[in-house]
Amino acid sequence: MSEDLIIVSGGAPLEGTVNIAGAKNSVLKLMAASLLAPGLTTIENVPIISDVTLMGKVLSNLGAKVSFGDHRVAIDTAPVDSIEAPYELVAQMRASIAVLGPLIARFGRAHVAMPGGCQIGSRKLDMHIAGLEALGVSFDIAHGFIDASIPQGLIGAPVILEFPSVGATENLMMAAVLAQGTTIINNAAREPEIVDLANYLIAMGARIEGAGTPAISIEGVKELSPVASHTTVGDRIEAGTFLVAGVLGGGPVTVKGVDPSHLEMALTKLRAMGVQLEVGSDSITVSHSGAIKPVDIQTLPHPGFPTDLQAQFMVLDALADGRSVITENVFENRFMFADEIARMGAEIRIEGHFAFVTGVRQLSGAPVRSPDLRGGAALVLAGLVADGQTVVAGVEHIDRGYEHFVDKLASLGAQIKRAPSA
Ligand code: EPZ
Repeated sequence: MSEDLIIVSGGAPLEGTVNIAGAKNSVLKLMAASLLAPGLTTIENVPIISDVTLMGKVLSNLGAKVSFGDHRVAIDTAPVDSIEAPYELVAQMRASIAVLGPLIARFGRAHVAMPGGCQIGSRKLDMHIAGLEALGVSFDIAHGFIDASIPQGLIGAPVILEFPSVGATENLMMAAVLAQGTTIINNAAREPEIVDLANYLIAMGARIEGAGTPAISIEGVKELSPVASHTTVGDRIEAGTFLVAGVLGGGPVTVKGVDPSHLEMALTKLRAMGVQLEVGSDSITVSHSGAIKPVDIQTLPHPGFPTDLQAQFMVLDALADGRSVITENVFENRFMFADEIARMGAEIRIEGHFAFVTGVRQLSGAPVRSPDLRGGAALVLAGLVADGQTVVAGVEHIDRGYEHFVDKLASLGAQIKRAPSA
């Protein structure tokens, strides 16, 4: 993990085009889903980020042969001979829990470490467990490990999720595809990454209908086949992050390689802030000058406003011409970023799930630390327009989910560099 710093000087105008990478929150699950069938699968449009490297280690630890190419990963799951995801890997990346469903479906067993919480919340697994139990999985959870087995086999069943959890929807889909009979997931998550995973599973031979809607129907099949090539959907969160950079730097800034329909609510909020937008088939261009209108935001499951863009949009409201309220409805502790940007002069009062923001004329550069992946990216965005220099520590958080973040911002004209910490 790098101890590097990101050093950014505020005030440089930004314009140009950024190519968006494949979606972190899809590719990690596509890689896990490859466990469902023995053989060689290739996934394209793979982002160069540390979480992908980690998922590669989780799969190699299970016995798979994993080889990375240029934005590509080839996974041969024929040699998989273990059902264990160890604590030292799972603790580094909670998304490792995505191997739970595939291991149960293919091998009838799984022994996966509990990932534990992280900075933004407790990140419980009760919905994963309850949903899989409805399909006949029995769990023994002890000593920090989840031990799963299917004494009577995996039997399709109707499941209703208490909350449209992305991870629970994915684990259930990946187990149900090899269950006997039909599973209906009600109150399912509708994120574009769910649709991407469903398309990949269908390419493996799964029978899935309704992905992207609140009701997903899965008819179990006897076996699945590896996929010669699947291209990961573009990363809507990376795209949204660079759209905010474009607003702050004036633009025009174009993000290419993303489906604009995956960002409807974020684009609606940008328009309400007074931002000019041009939307193409796989690109979005922003430009902005003058005041930013304050806009209230509340994060919700897709198609609501994405929680993963909350911190980035808080930078815009922190510089807006008035007051706004940002409500975080998805995670219980996702305002740590607000404390850091307050050090740069932002006026934000946190009360539970509400952040009361009063726009200021300008932020001032300061040494700050990334609280998490998206908060770290948002601190860099704030540094793009702050008066003076901002030094962002904790860059390893940003490396988890952003490919060449500094280089891409520099290519737009940002005065930014990465340096080893003293
Ligand atoms: C995925 O996390 C993403 N991560 C998150 O992105 C994203 O913020 C989140 O979905 C919501 O969109 C990946 O895909 C790797 P959830 P996930 O299950 O699946 C609670 C980023 O920055 N919950 O939809 O963990 C949970 O604690 C990351 O890229 C339970 O209580 O999200 C949270 O409060 C951050 N019990 C809420 O539901 C459960 O069994 C939403 O979680 C499951 C979840």
